[in-house]
Amino acid sequence: MNREIFFRAASEYGTPLYLYDLGEIERRIKRAKDTLKSLDFKIFFAMKANSNPYLLKFIHAYGIGADAVSVNEYKMALFAGFNPGEIIVNGNGKSLEDLEFYIAQNPLCINVDSKEEIAKFGNKSAKIALRINPDVNPQTHPHISTGLKENKFGMDFETAKEVIKTLPSNLKMVGLHCHIGSQITKIDPFIEAFSSIEKFVRSQGIKLEFLNVGGGWGIDYKKDGTEMDLDGYRKIVVPFLSTLDMPIYFELGRFITASAGYLVSKVTEVKRNSYKNFVILDASMADLIRPALYDAYHEIEILNDGEEMIADIGGRICESGDIFARSRKIKIPNPGDLAVIHDAGSYGYSMASNYNLSLKPAEVAFDGEKLILIRKREEFEDILNLCLEDEDENI
Ligand code: LLP
Repeated sequence: MNREIFFRAASEYGTPLYLYDLGEIERRIKRAKDTLKSLDFKIFFAMKANSNPYLLKFIHAYGIGADAVSVNEYKMALFAGFNPGEIIVNGNGKSLEDLEFYIAQNPLCINVDSKEEIAKFGNKSAKIALRINPDVNPQTHPHISTGLKENKFGMDFETAKEVIKTLPSNLKMVGLHCHIGSQITKIDPFIEAFSSIEKFVRSQGIKLEFLNVGGGWGIDYKKDGTEMDLDGYRKIVVPFLSTLDMPIYFELGRFITASAGYLVSKVTEVKRNSYKNFVILDASMADLIRPALYDAYHEIEILNDGEEMIADIGGRICESGDIFARSRKIKIPNPGDLAVIHDAGSYGYSMASNYNLSLKPAEVAFDGEKLILIRKREEFEDILNLCLEDEDENI
C-alpha cells in the first residue's frame, strides 16, 4: 500500500489504528477461489480472524459464508447480512444456552465437538457435522495446532463410529468436519488428514451432504516465500478431494484478511542503553498479541528514509513480553515517525484487549480512493460505563 495512505489515515484518525486494504481482501478471495475452482466448494470466513461487520459484509458480497464460534460471532454474522443457511457453528464446550440459541436459529450446520455434546441436544432437532480429530501433525506452532490427539478439539475415529451408531433420530448428520491447525504451509498434513477421513467415510458407508475441511492456509509473514503451497494444493489436494464426490467446505480465516491489515502506530521513544537499542511504539501487545503469544513474526516498517540500525521494537505495556520484534534491522526512527506492522488483518483486532486499560484502536478501510472509518476508537468512558451502576457516576 502507498505510504501516503498510512500518513493520511494516521493524521485523520490517530494512532494506533488498524487499516485494511479492501483490494487485497478481494485479491485473496480470488486466489482462494481460483485454487479451488475445479472443485464443488464453498468458503466460509472464520470470523475469529476478524469480525468487523463492515469487512464481513464486504466478504459476504463474494458469496462467502460465515464460520462462527460463539453466540456473539453468530449475532454479528446476522447483523452483517449472512442468513442462518450460510452460517456454520463451531466451537468446543458449547453451553446448553449456546446450543439452544443455535438450534433455534437453524444454521447450515452445527459442528459437534464431542460425544458429550450430543447429549446436550436433548430431543431437539438440528443438522450437525461431527468434528473429527484425525491425529495429524500440522507442522505449525504448537499453540495453533488443533488436529493432534493431545489437542482438546474434536473426536477420534473410534468415538465418531460410536456416535454415528447411537445418533438419536432428532439429529441429522449432514457432514463431517476437521480442522487440523492454522498457519500451515505444507500440503502433506492436509493429505494425511483428508485420506484418513476418506477411508473412514468409505468404511462406515455413510452418506454425507458435504465434507468440511476447515481452514489453516498459512500466509507469508516473513516475505520469504514460505506460505501455503497453493500450487501443490491445486494439483494434489484438490483432485483428491474431487474423488470424494461431494461438496467440500472451507473455513478460511487468516488467508483472507491477514495481509490486508496493517497496525499503524507512532514511535514514542527511541531508547538506547549500552547493550541495546529499543524503539517503543504507541501500539502494544494489547493491540496485537501475536508476537508476545506465539513469538510470531510481523514485518515492521518505519516510514522514514534514514539510515538503519538494529533494535528491539516494543510497546507501551508494563510487561517484558510486550515486544513486537527482537534484534530487527529497521530505519532509525525519530519520535513521531510512523511504524507500520504488516499482516495484522487476522487475529489482530479480534484478539485485542484492554490490558493496562489500553483502549482498543480504531479500524479504517481503504477502498482504493477513500478512507472509511469502520470502527471508532474505544474511549475511556466506554470502559468506565461497564463499571457504573445505573445512574451512578462514582463507583
Ligand atoms: N476453523 C476452525 C474450526 C478453527 O478453529 C480455525 C482457527 C479456523 C477455521 C480458521 O483457521 P485459519 O484459516 O485462520 O488458519 N490466534 C491464532 C490462530 C488461531 C486459530 C484458531 N482456529 C493466530 O493468531 O495465529
